[in-house]
Amino acid sequence: MSIQWFPGHMAKAKREAKEKMKLIDVVIELLDARIPLSSRNPVIDEITQGKPRMIILNKVDLADPNVTQEWKKYFEKQGHVVIEVDSQKGKGIKGIPPAVNTQASAMIERMIRKGMNPRAVRALILGIPNVGKSTLINRLANKKIARIGDRPGVTKSQQWIKVGKEMELLDTPGILWPKFNDEAVGFRLALTGAIKEEIFDFQESAVFFLNYVKVAYPEKLKERYNLTEIPDDIGELFDAIGKKRGCLVSGGHVDYDRTAEIVFRDFRTGKFGRLTLEQP
Ligand code: G4P
Repeated sequence: MSIQWFPGHMAKAKREAKEKMKLIDVVIELLDARIPLSSRNPVIDEITQGKPRMIILNKVDLADPNVTQEWKKYFEKQGHVVIEVDSQKGKGIKGIPPAVNTQASAMIERMIRKGMNPRAVRALILGIPNVGKSTLINRLANKKIARIGDRPGVTKSQQWIKVGKEMELLDTPGILWPKFNDEAVGFRLALTGAIKEEIFDFQESAVFFLNYVKVAYPEKLKERYNLTEIPDDIGELFDAIGKKRGCLVSGGHVDYDRTAEIVFRDFRTGKFGRLTLEQP
């Protein structure tokens, strides 16, 4: 799902997330491992209101494993618990319930001190569109949950999904908006699928991508387009890629729109292999 975010949408999302906050003990902040900072919501601290929380880096199968380790250290230094996950294949999922429980240890101890039997820890997944919230919820639930609420006219009450004996998950995630204050953030969101294709420019996104990849992953770029060297000039790089891929218009000129779209789709479909679009 891609949403265009207007101030009204943001206010509503914030209100809904804050409502859900009342029901839960631990917040699971879901980030895209390829763009951990750019996929973070700007007002997450305000929304979570001091609730214990942890970070899950999702889609690690698509990200550069070395950089993922650097991001993990980066967030750990800030005091966060970080778990790496591939929700599509279910890798790393098992580590989530124990980590959620650890986050709630103070609450559990309080209940025990009061002589109560500790109840299951209640968690909520928060994240921007397309980061993998539904996929992760389905994985944790170990089944395909019917998305009743998606049908028009059907309201769906919130339900708890049991994850093992000690954790319960709210079946509807909190949907948050991404940051929009920085152009580079916008390009990263566009490239990774968090923003609708209709509202951004393929050429601009491809220029951003190529300028980044030629520095961060030159070998992957050369390999993908069979280049012996990478031209410094972005126009020449477009020419080189366009010629290799037969994107020519009359007169033998390169069709930049088509070339941009090829580069964009190649990234989206994983043709460059695993890569991360921002470094800590
Ligand atoms: P959302 O609820 O946060 O909006 O995200 P959702 O679960 O719908 O996931 C968005 C897309 O990301 C889905 O692809 C999903 O399969 C994919 N995805 C989720 N987690 C992972 C992961 O760990 N690794 C990989 N490789 N993909 C993951 P989709 O339905 O095919 O949509 P799209 O790819 O056409 O956007």
